[in-house]
Amino acid sequence: MYKEFDINECLAQTITWAKEVGKIHLEYFRKKELSIETKSSSYDLLTIADKLSEEYIVEQIRHAYPDHQVLAEESGLNEMVSDFCWVIDPVDGTTNFAQGIPIFSVSIGLRYRGKGIMGVVYAPFMDELFYAIKGQGVFHNGKPIHVSNKTELHQSLLCTGFPYDHGTNPDNNTDNIARILPHCRDIRRLGSAAYDLCCIAAGYFDGFWEMNLKDWDVAAATVIIEEAGGQVIRFRKEPNYCIIAANALIVGQMQEYIK
Ligand code: IPD
Ligand code: CA
Ligand code: CA
Repeated sequence: MYKEFDINECLAQTITWAKEVGKIHLEYFRKKELSIETKSSSYDLLTIADKLSEEYIVEQIRHAYPDHQVLAEESGLNEMVSDFCWVIDPVDGTTNFAQGIPIFSVSIGLRYRGKGIMGVVYAPFMDELFYAIKGQGVFHNGKPIHVSNKTELHQSLLCTGFPYDHGTNPDNNTDNIARILPHCRDIRRLGSAAYDLCCIAAGYFDGFWEMNLKDWDVAAATVIIEEAGGQVIRFRKEPNYCIIAANALIVGQMQEYIK
């Protein structure tokens, strides 16, 4: 399918890069001056670890796959035109990271002609590595994983998140929380969408939804969830990702409340 491209070798390389990025995260986490800046709003943070992590990955890809397109959260799209596009979130969970809360990850996805073919998510503090190649299964720290087999929403532990414009935009997910909370076991907000989605793939959470996610939040984890037998559906026709992720039965039940 892909001429002169070995996806298994590519996965091995990507895992090495993700672990190196994990070292960058841990070098700064709770230790060094983070040079915190704000982005789209005062709630949307950028640290030196985001910048250094992204620089590292983009440089590795430029060296290994110089003709591939790259979409990275902090630097945007590179100038290459290619069937292959890397989609990168250098630190997913920057608010946690900046506060000293250990739930954050690096997310590296690869798309071919717009479709996800590989995903790697690594949460270095917890040393949790998730990876998948389309059609070749999915692994968490080397062991195969599968989405939860729950059939009822009232037995399901859900996870969600809030958009960065929640201070100014009333369409900030609180209505969804109010509608669905009475019908599920409980709801968590961990703060790293890529990691949250991997917890869906492993069956640790039974359902996830969030609005206004970006390509870099979902690219890697979508392959991971689909390989784990789950579904990721978009509940609004918007350029940003408004998604529900779970097994097919729970996705259907969540759709009654998530608007
Ligand atoms: C954020 C995290 C968070 C989610 C936000 C994302 P960032 O990513 O994934 O859990 O609720 O929507 O933007 O900004 O830390 O890369
Ligand atoms: Ca993110
Ligand atoms: Ca990020």
